[in-house]
Amino acid sequence: MKKIAVIGSINVDLITYGDRIAKSGETLEATAFAIGNGGKGANQAVAAAKLGAQVVMVSKVGDDQFAEMSLANYRSQQIDTKFVTKVSGVSTGVAPIFVNTTTSQNSILIVKGANNYLTPADIDAAEAELKNVDMIVLQLEVPLETVYHAIDFGQKYNITVLLNPAPAIPELSLEYVCKCDFFVPNETELEILTGKPVSTIEEINQAANMLFEHGLKNLIVTMGSRGSLWISKTGEYLAKPIKVNAVDTSGAGDAFIGCFSHFFTQTGDVVLALAKASIFAGLSVTGKGTQSSYPTIERFDDYQANNL
Ligand code: RIB
Ligand code: NA
Repeated sequence: MKKIAVIGSINVDLITYGDRIAKSGETLEATAFAIGNGGKGANQAVAAAKLGAQVVMVSKVGDDQFAEMSLANYRSQQIDTKFVTKVSGVSTGVAPIFVNTTTSQNSILIVKGANNYLTPADIDAAEAELKNVDMIVLQLEVPLETVYHAIDFGQKYNITVLLNPAPAIPELSLEYVCKCDFFVPNETELEILTGKPVSTIEEINQAANMLFEHGLKNLIVTMGSRGSLWISKTGEYLAKPIKVNAVDTSGAGDAFIGCFSHFFTQTGDVVLALAKASIFAGLSVTGKGTQSSYPTIERFDDYQANNL
């Protein structure tokens, strides 16, 4: 069995559903609230684990009630949490999320808390085990120096590295991005990194070329309802999204990355992994919340048996 390491964030999602966000000074009634396990790193880890991947997380939690809740969740998903450590005196990362019930779009605030304390030394402390994984999956909810160290670590041990540059950070280093095997931004994140317009496929190709000149191997742009586009130096492939009734899109990008990582490590086939990831992420938007909306492997298989 191939192994995936997710080096990244754990959050607890505090999700409010309503018609709109209150303006400054206004008090407004919303319709519903839910607490869920989230964080981009954790979501990606759970998505992969739900499909049967062997996943180890390198993360931090705080010393509040959300820490235990998070650890219990990841253990129950068979995720290896021995490199998830507690930071005293800080909160576990949280994400107050607003989901607009009319548009099903989400707005997310992130309070990084313990995620801010994940350091390069935490990666080194896990070296003996991490050097044997098949893929390292990264996002930007932990300090940039830790992300860069993970990229160097992956290169040193010849491990496939995937970077999802979310949330967008303008000072992200182009040099480090281009050391990754897979760079997986959405359109906005790609635009911020390259400083180029990316509203058409042609413009995305121009941005991709710039990254290839700096050494990048594979760009995968997630474009929501327009699908996801893989561009490499030798060609490109567009995975169309499945048609679903969108209820809540939060965590869909993470579902995509976790699923892609699982199928890529298992098969080495980018097109297959992209197709699977589109379906898995598509099914996730039909359910509320982030991890709570990820389909079981049975639902995922059923969908494919009945619709493809
Ligand atoms: O990508 C969705 C995630 O972003 C949420 O789970 C939230 O925790 C934030 O990290
Ligand atoms: Na969802």
